[in-house]
This record gives sequence, structure tokens and C-alpha cells, in this order.
Amino acid sequence: MSRIRVMTIFGTRPEAIKMAPLVQALKQQPEVEATCCVTAQHREMLDSVLEIFHIQPEYDLNIMQPRQSLSTITTKCLLGMEEVLGQARPDLVLVHGDTSTTFAGALAAFYQQIAVGHVEAGLRTCDKYSPFPEEMNRKLVGDIADLHFCPTRKNRENLLREGIEQGVFVTGNTVIDALKTTVVKDYHFATPLLNQLDYTGKKVIVVTCHRRENYGQPMENIMTALREIADAHPQVELVYPVHLSPVVREAAGKYLSGHPRIHLIDPLTADEMHNLMARSYLVMTDSGGLQEEAPALGRPVLVLRRETERPEAVEAGTVRIAGTRREDIVELANRLLTDEEAYRAMAHAVNPYGDGQACRRIVEAILWKFGLRDTPPEEFQAG
Ligand code: UD1
Ligand code: UDP
Repeated sequence: MSRIRVMTIFGTRPEAIKMAPLVQALKQQPEVEATCCVTAQHREMLDSVLEIFHIQPEYDLNIMQPRQSLSTITTKCLLGMEEVLGQARPDLVLVHGDTSTTFAGALAAFYQQIAVGHVEAGLRTCDKYSPFPEEMNRKLVGDIADLHFCPTRKNRENLLREGIEQGVFVTGNTVIDALKTTVVKDYHFATPLLNQLDYTGKKVIVVTCHRRENYGQPMENIMTALREIADAHPQVELVYPVHLSPVVREAAGKYLSGHPRIHLIDPLTADEMHNLMARSYLVMTDSGGLQEEAPALGRPVLVLRRETERPEAVEAGTVRIAGTRREDIVELANRLLTDEEAYRAMAHAVNPYGDGQACRRIVEAILWKFGLRDTPPEEFQAG
């Protein structure tokens, strides 16, 4: 029998980190002929992940341009994918999450009547403008997709509410599969500062902030709050690997540069970032991925957004929504820096998002769907 031709499509850093273990799992499966197409919606930040996970894509659309608009990304991906899919004719395309690459990749496959599998399906805030444009991207992909790989049961419930019942699997999030390969005990950082930091004597806060809906006033509030927190607590060392988006770099430079204990550094490789978080005191972020990784590492998270599509760790008590008002962010951080009991209550490892077996389940689900397995994979049960 001929092998199932599966093409993974991704373009940004978080998609790459979360698809990397799946690309590897697909390549190892004898019944699958796996190919990989990157749009390079991100260039440097994508290449860094490809290098760490030793992935050499068969196709590279190389679309990134400075300050790209949503329409530019989507149209360039769509046109590029039309050619790639016409040439490769996969049996199944796999996209991940909620970026413009995800949406355009799924739409391009649909236009050629190629089946689509959505990895990290079913996350919702139910606010179409927040996160923007991600909430709409993932909803539209949910309508297009034939297979839906939900990290959690809550994600499946979201799909059920939208009438999506067929082809839904609860697999866990592949980010936990990735995390299991990157975090090591005696890790040596390539970034010298990160080897020099005193992780036990000081309180290292890891910060990231990049979301489009935070551009402007919310981002200014967040940055002002961060500086206030560093000023008020001499034991705090704030490490902020700044996203390469010019909008973000301008804001971070304007509000946070020139402080002796605020370290604005370039984006880290995935393994550096994971090992930094594992050694930190607290994570403050508007990132989706960090909200999943930090709880697995036992690190409390303050979310610099008004809502989250990842309520599981909030319910488990390790993540709190701080919002984007300066005084709220400062107050919550102050409490975690001064009240040991409040800190301890949040700093426990939980794994609502995965057990490191998500990729195996996704591969098994695909094989089952294509008639090569008698049973579907068992569901991920949060531990
Ligand atoms: C994108 C995703 C967002 C995801 C984020 C992860 C969309 C609409 N947004 O947002 O969901 O959370 O990635 O980081 O898909 N740049 C570089 N080099 C890089 C990467 C980015 O220079 O390696 C700069 C470019 O000027 C680019 C800009 O950053 O135009 C913004 O990148 P873009 O992908 O448009 O948006 P993100 O904010 O990164
Ligand atoms: N990350 C990284 N280097 C950094 C910052 C983040 O490797 O300097 C990783 C992080 O550990 C997580 C992913 O990038 O796996 C999250 O990506 P991002 O925050 O850009 O996007 P989001 O998850 O919000 O879509």
C-alpha cells in the first residue's frame, strides 16, 4: 500500500516549536511520507527553531517582510501554498494554532480539496477581536478542518458548541512533548548573562510581550508597570527577550532601557528560553505558549492580557490574569514578590496541557482515519 502523504505547514516561532516534535514523529512513521513547508512568516525566529530541532523543510515560501500587514501575510501564503500544494498533492495538510500562516495554509488546502488537520484545535476566548486576529483565524480553521487535535477536553467542548463533532481527538498539547526534550539539569546558556544571573539569591522575572491587541496604550501600561516593579524590588532581575517586531522593540526600548536590573535581550533559542523559565521566580507574559510551558515547570504566570483561551492553568491556580492596567499588574506582582504564601500557592507544577504523548496520539489518529489502525488513540487525561 502507498504511504499517506502528510504535509506540515507552519511559519512562526510558536508554531515551529509546537510542530517540531510532530514533524519528527511523522518522519519516523513508516506508513507516512512526511514533508514540511514553512511560509517563513517569521524568518530569524523560525530558523532558530528549525536549527534546534534539526528540521530541513522541503518547501520555504520565505514571505517575511518588515512590519508586514495581515493582508500581506495571508495573500503571500495563499499564493505560495497554491503552487506548493499543486506540486506536492499531499493526502493531508497539518496546520497549527491560530496565526495568519495557519489560516492561509488551511484555506489553500481547502481550495484544492485536500484534507486538513488542525493541531491545537478548539481554543477560544469568544471575543473576535481578542486575541486579534488569532481568535478568528482558529475559528475559521475549525470550520475548514477535517481532523481536530484538541489539547484538552475543554477545547473539545468549545468545538462541540460550534457543532463540530466529527474527527475530534483530545491529544494534549505538543508543546509539552517539546519541553521534555529541551529542559536539562546542568544546562549551559549560550547567552552569557543567563549563566551569570543569581537564580537563588535574586528573583528572576522572565517577561515577554508581543501581541497585536496590546500595541499602543496597553503595551505602554505593561512596560511602565514592569519598570515600576523593578524599581520597587531591588532583588528583582527582569529578563526580557524582546520579540523582533519593530513595534515591540520600539516600545521596550522607550520604556525599559537604561535600567541596571532590566535586561532587554534578543530572542532566545527555544531551549534557552525553556531552561531560563525553569530557573526563574516568575513569568509575566502575553504569550500563549508561555502560559502552557511555565505551569509544567512549576513557575507562576501573570498574564498581561484581559482574557485567556487557556483557562485550565488559571483553574489549577498557577496562572492569573493580570490584565493590561498598570496598577493591577504592579499590585499582583508586588504580592507575589513579598507574600511567600501567595507565591507558594501559585508555584506548583501542574500539567493540564499535556503528558508528552501528544504527537504519538496525533500520528495514531491520522493512521486510524486513513484505515491503518483498528482503534483511535486513547484520550489525554489531565494529571
Ligand atoms: C505572529 C502571530 C501571532 C503569534 C506571534 C508569535 C499572526 C497574525 N500573528 O505575530 O499569533 O503569537 O507571531 O511570535 O499570525 N520579525 C522579524 N523577524 C522574525 C520575526 C518577526 O524581523 O523572525 C518582525 C518583522 O518585522 C515582522 C514583524 O516582526 O513584520 C511582525 O511579525 P508577524 O508575524 O507579522 O507578527 P507577530 O507579532 O510576530
Ligand atoms: N520563546 C523562545 N524564545 C524567546 C521567547 C519565547 O523560544 O525569546 C518560545 C517560548 O518558550 C514558547 C514560544 O516561543 O515556546 C512562544 O512563542 P510566542 O510567545 O512568540 O508566541 P505565542 O505563543 O504567543 O503565539
